[in-house]
Amino acid sequence: MNLHNKTALVTGASQGIGKAIALRLAESGADIALNVREADKRSESLRSEIEALGRRCAVMPCDVSQIEPLRAAFARVADQLGAIDILVNNAGIEKRAEFLDVTEADYDAVMNVNLKGAFFLAQVFAARCKQAGRGGRIINISSVHEDLPFPHFSAYCISKGGMRMMTRNLAIELAPYGITVNNIAPGAIETPINARVLSDPALHDALLANIPLKRLGRPGDVAGVTAFLASADADYITGTTSVVDGGLLWNYAEQ
Ligand code: BGC
Repeated sequence: MNLHNKTALVTGASQGIGKAIALRLAESGADIALNVREADKRSESLRSEIEALGRRCAVMPCDVSQIEPLRAAFARVADQLGAIDILVNNAGIEKRAEFLDVTEADYDAVMNVNLKGAFFLAQVFAARCKQAGRGGRIINISSVHEDLPFPHFSAYCISKGGMRMMTRNLAIELAPYGITVNNIAPGAIETPINARVLSDPALHDALLANIPLKRLGRPGDVAGVTAFLASADADYITGTTSVVDGGLLWNYAEQ
């Protein structure tokens, strides 16, 4: 994938899928803005790694659920790196609870990071692209749970279902500006969000039994599709979801 002369902003870039995407886009030639909740050793070392690839890199510390600070942080990073061509809305959280026990605070936290932050970042990004008369790419890291129910994660599923509809709507509204909007729907990927399952052999085996390709996904599996969607080869793709799940979503077997 050739992303030379492009600049990408990746949210939630300090670990897991976001980190792998930032590195893959940099390896493909893009300069990178790393959004993290707070700058720390991880973001500093990722910045050094990206700069060692010969790319420019800026760290953008900001909680994506705080909309005014998010807009200000976007403006600062665009001043630093120049126009942003590719927005990857990756930041996401999940909270496990039975539906009857979900608190308002947890519901708000999940919706605000996963959906509201992505929505308003897409808005500020698209406004800049329109103003500059240049197209752009919005790539949302959703989940198989934009379609598939996940008991005990109702707010998470609702946020991802909302992300799916956001993608479909924005793909149409932003097409006249040359901005494409697509989702990637990862299944079970080896990242910190799955720490509970990864550290318990019984849970891990039960999860593997649902995956036809018989392994968990790796962050790189998602990063490769992101680089493709960001590239010129994906010029004609908008409003879609690419599922990256080893076959989990449509797995059904009878003994
Ligand atoms: C969730 C994981 C889950 C996976 C497959 C992801 O969206 O974050 O917790 O294991 O979907 O169900």
